[in-house]
Amino acid sequence: MALYDTIGKTYAQTRRSDPRIATKLLEILQSSQASTIADIGAGTGSYALILAEHGYRVLAVEPSATMRSQAIAHPAIQWIDSYADRLSLPNKSAHATIIMLAFHHFQNYRQALQEIHRVTGGGQVVIFNYDPEMIESFWLTQYFPSFVADVQSTFLPIAKLKSEIESIMDAPVNILPFPLPNDLSDSFAAVGWARPELYLDNSVRNGISSFSKITDDELEQGLSSLERDLETGVWNHKYGYLRQQRQYDVGYYFMYTAT
Ligand SMILES: C[S@@+](CC[C@H](N)C(=O)[O-])C[C@H]1O[C@@H](n2cnc3c(N)ncnc32)[C@H](O)[C@@H]1O
Repeated sequence: MALYDTIGKTYAQTRRSDPRIATKLLEILQSSQASTIADIGAGTGSYALILAEHGYRVLAVEPSATMRSQAIAHPAIQWIDSYADRLSLPNKSAHATIIMLAFHHFQNYRQALQEIHRVTGGGQVVIFNYDPEMIESFWLTQYFPSFVADVQSTFLPIAKLKSEIESIMDAPVNILPFPLPNDLSDSFAAVGWARPELYLDNSVRNGISSFSKITDDELEQGLSSLERDLETGVWNHKYGYLRQQRQYDVGYYFMYTAT
């Protein structure tokens, strides 16, 4: 059973596409002149839908039936039940690929990149991802310390990912840091950088895979400690300055091959 069949039951409620992320994605893709895009690890299709609404044809690849069942149907989106490392798509069936916060889930990422290269015939690859070197400086890890080891063992360092993509795709890679807005609508792991209360909401945590990996004890302790710090003003004293910022570089970035 795919992981997201278990943890993704309410994903579409909290993981809505963010317009700032979508705008940047569309801007990057524009340079590739692509018209058919493979969205690998498409989830509930929130970004696939934006591409479809902007005139692209989308091949949305997603192994979890639970995730696919929450997708909003669109005639330009074809859903494919498949894994990144053995894509059931013909050679050159797409012009470009997007991978939105899914790369770290691919079991054999080199094989996935080779598959993507085959399916797009060397077309553009756009990845939205997280820099694991930033995790230690994120205040949330003070409450949930095992996030550090989890993230560091799950996400590839930027330099490593860059060199893997450059060698397999045989194209230079650009990196664009993406500071998160303070009102992000896609509630992924760092969504509450300035809104700590969000992590007390069970439905928000359910859409964040890191929370599914920690022990019940760590979860309980972290939540009660965060709740207490919010009530007593300790959180505000230490991190309240973040509430004044409109955006913040928590470690997210786009990585994409040049066209
Ligand atoms: C964090 S979600 C991101 C979903 C979507 N891209 C988004 O931004 O909302 C990661 C997705 O990757 C999918 N996934 C996990 N392993 C995969 C694999 N080996 N190949 C393709 N997709 C995979 C999961 O089922 C899940 O839907």
